[in-house]
Amino acid sequence: MKFEHKPVLLDEVVEYLKPQPNQNFIDCTVGGGGHAKAILQKTGPNGKLLGIDLDIQAIEAAKQNLQEFKDRIILINDNYQNLKQILYDTGFNKINGILLDLGLSSYQIQAKTRGFSFKGDSFLDMRFGETEQTAADIINKYKEADLIRIFKEYGEERYAKQIAQEIVDLRKKQPITKTNQLVDIIEKVYKNKPKPKKIHVATKVFQALRIEVNNELANLKKILPQALEALFKNGRLVVISFHSLEDKIVKEFFKKESKDCLCPPQIPVCVCEHKAQLKILTKKVVKPSQTEIMKNPRSRSAKLRAVVKI
Ligand SMILES: C[S@@+](CC[C@H](N)C(=O)[O-])C[C@H]1O[C@@H](n2cnc3c(N)ncnc32)[C@H](O)[C@@H]1O
Repeated sequence: MKFEHKPVLLDEVVEYLKPQPNQNFIDCTVGGGGHAKAILQKTGPNGKLLGIDLDIQAIEAAKQNLQEFKDRIILINDNYQNLKQILYDTGFNKINGILLDLGLSSYQIQAKTRGFSFKGDSFLDMRFGETEQTAADIINKYKEADLIRIFKEYGEERYAKQIAQEIVDLRKKQPITKTNQLVDIIEKVYKNKPKPKKIHVATKVFQALRIEVNNELANLKKILPQALEALFKNGRLVVISFHSLEDKIVKEFFKKESKDCLCPPQIPVCVCEHKAQLKILTKKVVKPSQTEIMKNPRSRSAKLRAVVKI
């Protein structure tokens, strides 16, 4: 299967990362290398790019797509939450910018065997890399209360309780291992109920499972301080998120690290000694234009935030 993925907010990524000749960048979610290519085009003749991805197929695709820059790239198949260790192991330094384009690629959604999509019938896998539990493990092993919690917290699914109950009932009779089995359960619960307007009834549960399988929110919380620490002074960090839970983590981290003091207002003199480490470049979150959304509907929920290290 051909690796296809249109990089989201490409012009905006370049605008905020501001890559210049001979600068070094990290793409923590290199995917097929769409954003990486645009960065490398601006950083010749000697600027280097470290590309990380948990998905070995993405790394293979990036290797092919970035062939013309092969002397200026290092590709690492790992979790970006291990950034500090990766930098230590590779000796990659003098970093002028870091990109995080969260979520999954169109290639991963379309892959018939990965279980990310509710279209088609695939094994309920949903792993980016080789973490231990698959979505099927979660569906078959988690307690009902935990299923309700993840559907509610990570999917904001209105019928989390009913869907979890149906899962528990069915799995007593047979294991639930296929995406179609899960879609059937969700459709059964939604029968005679108002359906979400713009999305498939299974979208939220699939999103919630993917976040849980890949520990996405915990990974994001771990990478942000490491990324900030890794940057040179005046280095830039750009994050594209695809749902409100991610965006909230990014927004709060940026806000906190842009302040000189974190003491509560009732404390008259600062005792925390917290110092601002960054300046926010995007006072308002940046969203794709209507033209981009028309050309690439997957971009519709993207939100970009950017900061510069001070
Ligand atoms: C939206 S895609 C990136 C696409 C890329 N910017 C491009 O232009 O082709 C997100 C990528 O992040 C990877 N990913 C998700 N979580 C990760 C993690 N914790 N560590 C490393 N890569 C991760 C996924 O495997 C996927 O390839």
